[in-house]
Amino acid sequence: MQNTNTYIVSNWKMNGTAVLMHEMVKAFIENPATKNDKAQSTNTTPRWVFCPPALLITETKQNYPEIILGGQDCHQKRTGAFTGNISASLLKESGATYVIVGHSERRHYHNESNALIAEKACMAIKCGLIPIICIGESEETYNNGLTLDFLKKQLDESLCGLNKEQHFIVAYEPIWAIGTGKTATRTDIEKVHSFLRNQLPDTPLLYGGSVTASNAYDILTTPNVNGVLVGGASLKIDEFKTILEAARMCDTAT
Ligand code: PGA
Repeated sequence: MQNTNTYIVSNWKMNGTAVLMHEMVKAFIENPATKNDKAQSTNTTPRWVFCPPALLITETKQNYPEIILGGQDCHQKRTGAFTGNISASLLKESGATYVIVGHSERRHYHNESNALIAEKACMAIKCGLIPIICIGESEETYNNGLTLDFLKKQLDESLCGLNKEQHFIVAYEPIWAIGTGKTATRTDIEKVHSFLRNQLPDTPLLYGGSVTASNAYDILTTPNVNGVLVGGASLKIDEFKTILEAARMCDTAT
């Protein structure tokens, strides 16, 4: 794996405003925790990938070209008569480098299947974006001890058509941990990430689900965790600052 920085992907979902975007970016742009210290000389990854609502991507990129941006979803077709959808090609043109696909809220509220998510991930790559492919089990599956069986199928189907050498990221987000304040234990995360690492030796692996300032360092230092996907806490400047600083400590520690 080439990355040495730790990923902090902030997913604003359908929250935030242009005013908050400017405040947030200005708070971090000169902060060493968000700088890609090692990226200057080696082929490394950014630390902060900012995924605001798509309507803010262009304004963010035009005002702060150094900020690395991502979309929150894209359509599986390059262009076409799909009213209201967002294409990977236009996300790229607007300044995005990454795109989240298969978030559990898309799976749930928009009935997205593994097969559709695989198509979206393939289109994202064709358009020059790096997909962040989300997977995660329900509370019922977790309570029944079926997490790994479920994830194996979800992963295989959501990655169908991709090859392991392509540039993509996998984010493990247990559904029961998203926005609930319940975080998976370090033991649970370690178990899932070691399983994922066996399947995907070179793919960056993120954890997401109620990541906060107080648990970020512990999660980021769990074996085979290369970063976190942060929802609610990424809308609060002070809390997010602590998370970015935890990531910086992890880089320094390696
Ligand atoms: P949360 O969301 O941090 O608010 O739990 C995470 C996510 O949905 O990616």
